[in-house]
Amino acid sequence: MTQSIGILTSGGDTPGLNAAIRGVGKACHTHYGMRIIGFRDGFRGLMENRTMSLDGETLSGILTLGGTILGTSRDKPHKMPVNGKVLDMTETIVANYHANGLDCLVCLGGGGTVKNALRLQQAGLNVVTLPKTIDNDVALTDTTFGFDTALGIATDAIDRLHSTAHSHHRIIVVEIMGHRAGWLALGAGIAGGADVILIPEIPYDVDIVAEAIKARKRKGKPFSIVAVAEGALTKPEFEAQQEAAAKKKDKKTKDMVVEAELIYAERTLKLARQLELLTGLEARPTILGHLQRGGTPSAADRLLASRLGTAAADLIHNKQYGCMVAARGEATEPVALQAVAGQVKTVPPDHPWVATARGVGTSFGD
Ligand code: F6P
Repeated sequence: MTQSIGILTSGGDTPGLNAAIRGVGKACHTHYGMRIIGFRDGFRGLMENRTMSLDGETLSGILTLGGTILGTSRDKPHKMPVNGKVLDMTETIVANYHANGLDCLVCLGGGGTVKNALRLQQAGLNVVTLPKTIDNDVALTDTTFGFDTALGIATDAIDRLHSTAHSHHRIIVVEIMGHRAGWLALGAGIAGGADVILIPEIPYDVDIVAEAIKARKRKGKPFSIVAVAEGALTKPEFEAQQEAAAKKKDKKTKDMVVEAELIYAERTLKLARQLELLTGLEARPTILGHLQRGGTPSAADRLLASRLGTAAADLIHNKQYGCMVAARGEATEPVALQAVAGQVKTVPPDHPWVATARGVGTSFGD
């Protein structure tokens, strides 16, 4: 019997999503002869049954496109804003899955998407996910598609900031995405030769950062690049966050954590100002923001997304559901959704990349 699959993209968009849609679509449709339907705007489109045909024609010419032809959203099946209320729409989603005669739903997303996919699996659906995010923070996969492209963009930005920082004898504090993980700031910081790298996993002391900058100035280099990850925290902020995490069930504390995440940019501006005062050098903040998620995917991301997408088709063909397709070396591997859900892959403070950065004299402000 012909298998029917649905596909959606969920969470923040990522370069390589279209390459993955194409990989899943072509392998399922052309290679295995399956029927394939796209759902628009993530789980919301599945809930509202807004579909898009994904025939050979639609899948053609999308490999190199940024964004996602399906559209995306951060909606969760069990907590969806509908007519001014936040409702559990799982039942409607399950009904739409069956109404479309699906054998499996493929969800392209990051850690949050895995949690949502697991909930749908627990509601009786067959689900497979592919790991995408520029943050590279999905557990149990070597890497995620989108990361390589964002790494290239952030590195290019640091290269460009270097020449202007040099000319004006300034500090440039460049904020790099990554949410609560420091992979992107660390990778781009090393590749771009940042003088200071601040990541959420290594709490910093602003006086130590200032001292590193002053030491450069004494050596005749009165300019510095500080690559700061969105979630980087000073030591007291880090301790407060740990405490909040320990009391996670407390609703009020949870709201405080959400509040803290809204102020990434404010923290970056404050850091630049503090460094100006502590070093006597002018400082300028640069927030790279969504530039890091836009545009053409890199060759490495197209390759990874295609590998994961076609591997998903093989798993579905073999009726192997309830898993995320992980990148493992040159190969791929199915990992149970239960094992991935709720885990975040952060940078171990003793990770080889951290050692590399320290080896070339980069300060982490610790
Ligand atoms: O998870 C990807 C990411 O780009 C994070 O790095 C960032 O913190 C977040 O999404 C931004 O989300 P939004 O696009 O909803 O503002």
